[in-house]
Amino acid sequence: MKVIRKVDELREYSIEQRSKGKTVGFVPTMGFLHEGHVSLITRASLECDIVITSLFVNPTQFAPHEDFDSYPRDFEHDYNLAKNADCDVLFAPARGEMYPEGATTSLSVGDLAYVFEGKYRPHFFDGVATVVSKLFSAALPNKAFFGQKDYQQTLVVKALSRDMLMGVEIVVCPIVRETSGLAMSSRNKYLTDEEKSKAKILFQSLVATKEFIESSERNRKKINAFMHEYLRKLEILKIDYALAADAYNLSEPSEFEEGMDVVLLLGTILGKTRLIDNMVVKIPVSNYNEDERFQAGLK
Ligand code: PAF
Repeated sequence: MKVIRKVDELREYSIEQRSKGKTVGFVPTMGFLHEGHVSLITRASLECDIVITSLFVNPTQFAPHEDFDSYPRDFEHDYNLAKNADCDVLFAPARGEMYPEGATTSLSVGDLAYVFEGKYRPHFFDGVATVVSKLFSAALPNKAFFGQKDYQQTLVVKALSRDMLMGVEIVVCPIVRETSGLAMSSRNKYLTDEEKSKAKILFQSLVATKEFIESSERNRKKINAFMHEYLRKLEILKIDYALAADAYNLSEPSEFEEGMDVVLLLGTILGKTRLIDNMVVKIPVSNYNEDERFQAGLK
């Protein structure tokens, strides 16, 4: 596996590969890789001829009070994991490569950046869009692979590729979880053992809410209340949001329609650690006709 630190070198490498007819898959990360990242690299290597993984802790997606300085970094660990996962190139640029001196240009995502996670981290999605666009310009990928764990981020990068005419196909890969159900994240390193075992409540609340919906609940407020009530069992958990929305555009109708894909989105803080999770649930299609639904109190 090659390590590249310069943008120009990465771009040349990618142009060369593509000129040979090879497809380039790209996995952007902030490093401190775990099994979730490995699953993205593996998927990229199944779908593309060449896999580039980036390691870059992007300063513009952190607010001044957030964990940019303490964000875990371990190049050797990342190198070994990426190499074992059949990555071809590890791109590990210095800050000045990604944000050259005097750089002032940034991208603005629009409304999607200020709801759900964006309401609590208003700087975050513009920072992500800006750095992902720079990384795409450097790696020139055919496809880029993102984890569903950062659900809203996947919507933002899909919109980015579409709106900025980037032509990069965004592939969203399933969440990888610990056996307890806790979604894997580099930030799990901040959790104490006790917090880690308690953090499984996020996944449990999603599973319970999925069952609640599948028992034919379609009222958004009732679904949200159910999730909140479940999570409140863990008193030390601070709930920023626990909300259901249309899985494609995050709109929030009062009643979800039959057959619709709904995403349950969680943003919480446990101790000092921000934990997010989500699950997509299909609203069941009823077998009743309109009259029967009315009689059964479903309408
Ligand atoms: O998901 C992440 O790790 C980051 O937000 C990303 C996409 C690498 C941009 O810095």
